[in-house]
Amino acid sequence: MIRLNNNYSKLQASYLFVEISRRVNAHAENHPEGNLIKLGIGDVTNPLPSSIIRAFHKGVDEQAESDSFKGYGPEQGYAFLREAIAEADYTSRGCRISADDIFVSDGAKCDTGNFQELFADDVTIAVPDPVYPVYVDTNVMAGRTGEAKDGRYEGLIYLEGTQENNFVPSPGDLPESGADLVYLCFPNNPTGATASREQLGEWVDWASDRGSIILFDAAYEAFVINPDIPKSIYEIRGAEKCAVEFRSFSKTAGFTGTRCAYTVVPDSIEIDGVKLRDMWNRRHSTKFNGVSYPVQKAAAAVYAPEGKKETRKLIEGYLENAKIIRKAMKKVGYKTWGGVNSPYIWVKTGEDSWDTFDKLLNEADVVVTPGSGFGRMGEGFIRISAFNSRENVEEAIHRILKALK
Ligand code: MLT
Repeated sequence: MIRLNNNYSKLQASYLFVEISRRVNAHAENHPEGNLIKLGIGDVTNPLPSSIIRAFHKGVDEQAESDSFKGYGPEQGYAFLREAIAEADYTSRGCRISADDIFVSDGAKCDTGNFQELFADDVTIAVPDPVYPVYVDTNVMAGRTGEAKDGRYEGLIYLEGTQENNFVPSPGDLPESGADLVYLCFPNNPTGATASREQLGEWVDWASDRGSIILFDAAYEAFVINPDIPKSIYEIRGAEKCAVEFRSFSKTAGFTGTRCAYTVVPDSIEIDGVKLRDMWNRRHSTKFNGVSYPVQKAAAAVYAPEGKKETRKLIEGYLENAKIIRKAMKKVGYKTWGGVNSPYIWVKTGEDSWDTFDKLLNEADVVVTPGSGFGRMGEGFIRISAFNSRENVEEAIHRILKALK
């Protein structure tokens, strides 16, 4: 008889953002007159910049003509986009990454979730806590963990982000046995923390020495405006031998609804004589048929001079929102992290995270994200996202200050 993948039964509650939606929908049903402002899920609100929309339209129009019509494209992405990415995001910054190392996809969430498939069932895995839940849940689904106990899965190593380490764990936080695979995310989701060159250097040295792999989620790199903070792990020499990087156009250019991202798997990573890039290529071309041509045209426009200027403006707008939120939280007397070089503000309320979530939902009509949804270390915190219009952020802050008085 057919049987199910029982690993799914180990998963705790529903996916964080699904639970938030459930509570928000219930609230909206009971308060149809309400004017809810969402600073919860990191979803962009500004429309796509005009030069990007023009490129998108052009891509659509090309599909209407027999001369320019495109059927299946290369699974890895069109050369025009991969080359633009390699040059603008890597080569020009001194990173040893070529267009052949880039794999265009429909999202960093899918890629960070899928990449674990390339590794053996019994590799040891370290994840941060607080953590973007996808890293954990996909390993649970794959059967790499035991049951959950007190909000943590047996068999996973948790790298604790604390006030003391400014939410940047180091290899010294690993058990003596180390880990085969480590997930890192900087600028961090959810804490907004950034890692310095030295801190990333420690991870790269550690992984190179031990023969481990770092899965580096850089979905929020566009928010790094401090030139001393690395945007890519490949700015650290040696990372091209031990790190895979995930990036996305979602937050960089407003593509959450348009869908385009990419994963970098350098040619020089070899495990047991097998190139990881060849393996990902095999996986990617078997399970994925490429991002649509008009979307890739739109993504390539992000690298044109006008696209660069327009997307910078989007980022600056969200960073200004982050500043307003940070300032307000400080005014309440809360300690905050992030919100500089990052769109997320991590706020220590010291109260039960879901209680604060419910209070702000019910008394301010504002949605935030409860810190405990990101792991045990997030209890007592909330995450506020800067992704909204200035007007909504100002109104939300006004209401939050009133509710928290
Ligand atoms: C978040 O709010 O953490 C993100 O929007 C989730 C995502 O990008 O998948």
